[in-house]
Amino acid sequence: MASFISQVVLLLTIFFGLQSFSVASFNFQVGGTKGWIVPPPNDTDTYNDWASNNRFRVGDSIHFRYKKDSVMEVSGGDYKDCNATHPTFFSNNGNTLFRLDHSGTFYFISGASGHCEKGQKMIVRVMVDESLHDHAKSSGYHDAISPIGVFEMVLLLFVLECVASYVI
Ligand SMILES: *[C@@H]1O[C@H](CO)[C@@H](O)[C@H](O)[C@H]1NC(C)=O
Ligand SMILES: *[C@@H]1O[C@H](CO)[C@@H](O)[C@H](O)[C@H]1NC(C)=O
Repeated sequence: MASFISQVVLLLTIFFGLQSFSVASFNFQVGGTKGWIVPPPNDTDTYNDWASNNRFRVGDSIHFRYKKDSVMEVSGGDYKDCNATHPTFFSNNGNTLFRLDHSGTFYFISGASGHCEKGQKMIVRVMVDESLHDHAKSSGYHDAISPIGVFEMVLLLFVLECVASYVI
């Protein structure tokens, strides 16, 4: 009896564990603790350096934190020209969560006058591949919330399993 229950618990652990992994999405903090600011003159590629060191997948989100500034999603041409006249997305509430809802390339610029020209812009490439990936290895600043949740759940189920085998 005890071994049957622990087998069921183990199967549930694996099942829910895998399910959580397949829907795990990440919330990346753009620019880490500094947030979304005009980069210093000696570090104008900072956002693209950061973005190219991370792996973004469909369903992930990027979080922009800023003061007296804004964030826009624009076309590739407008990104190059720092043209803020017709963004496809605009936010200036200081706390913008942008969901990467499809694969491909996203272009972001600051809408504040002169900021994009100084390097406050970023290209984010979202991978097509939906298979298992190695998020944990990507350096940089992001909250890896989901794997911790999975870990805690597995731990909880493990504890339950121990209790079940002890009681029964
Ligand atoms: C830029 O300059 C600052 C201060 O002068 C320095 O602390 C920082 O390491 C430099 N950053 C890069 C990427 O060179
Ligand atoms: C921005 O793009 C619009 C539309 O394509 C164009 O009319 C305008 O001249 C551009 N502005 C700048 C500063 O390049």
